[in-house]
Amino acid sequence: MIDKYLLNDGREIPAVGLGTWQSAKPDAYRAVRAAIDCGYRHIDTAYAYDNEDAVGQAVRDSGVGRENLYITTKLPSDIKTYGGAKEYCLRSLKALGTDYLDLYLIHAPWPWSAVGTDCTEGNIEAWKALADLKKDGILRSIGVSNFRGEEIAPLVEATGVTPAVNQIRFFIGNTQEPVWEYCRQHGILVEAYSPLATGKILENGEIAAIAEKLGVSLAQLCIKYCICRGTLPLPKSVNPVRIAENLKLNFEIPEEDMKVLNAIKGLFPKPYRS
Ligand code: A2P
Repeated sequence: MIDKYLLNDGREIPAVGLGTWQSAKPDAYRAVRAAIDCGYRHIDTAYAYDNEDAVGQAVRDSGVGRENLYITTKLPSDIKTYGGAKEYCLRSLKALGTDYLDLYLIHAPWPWSAVGTDCTEGNIEAWKALADLKKDGILRSIGVSNFRGEEIAPLVEATGVTPAVNQIRFFIGNTQEPVWEYCRQHGILVEAYSPLATGKILENGEIAAIAEKLGVSLAQLCIKYCICRGTLPLPKSVNPVRIAENLKLNFEIPEEDMKVLNAIKGLFPKPYRS
């Protein structure tokens, strides 16, 4: 079981992170404390989740030194200017109570209120700001989220800086193969958000049967599947027992079962963009 991935900028990232999307502040605080207590060293949040201050407080209260924790947050999807990107990055630093971020991502290629619109110029401006903040040492690594290959290419062309990661919705039966393949070819680590399809996948009988055969929970199988596909899972839970369960991934998925899981298609398509 790998415990770290090496990014294309030479830095390492813990191979599983705690997701905090849809975790309200008190839940996020308790979840981060529980996660760090049971061995997580990687926490994923976003300005838009409205829980950065709770995450930051939990990190400070954890007793684990900042240098031993990996924190990711994200630029709001509607901020598409150089100055705006710098300003919102500083806001996140302040909310988290830290003076650097391990990873900072452009949350989406377009505002969530205008999915699919062409924001190429704005994304390039924001990307330039992230690249400059990286040069300043405020951001250790930079990347994107919810981007397709054709949305990543202009950033690289304009700046010469390739994103270290692309965080996308990725789970068994919904693996966004074209984006996954683009990232593989360009050395961009795919981070898998909603590795349990926000809980919906837990009712899948076919996956449950494989999990039972392997003697693991369905959630563990789904999370390990992401790693077997070379992606970095970010399971979200606010339940300490599940949080601990989701990190116990010391088992293998036999090739014949990977084939079955890879053949599952069309589960819970995105509610946005075709
Ligand atoms: P809870 O937070 O109450 O534990 P995703 O990571 O795809 O966003 O999925 C998150 C959803 O899956 C949440 O509803 C979470 O509920 C649930 N969940 C997370 N881990 C487990 C687990 N090990 N077993 C069952 N449900 C889980």
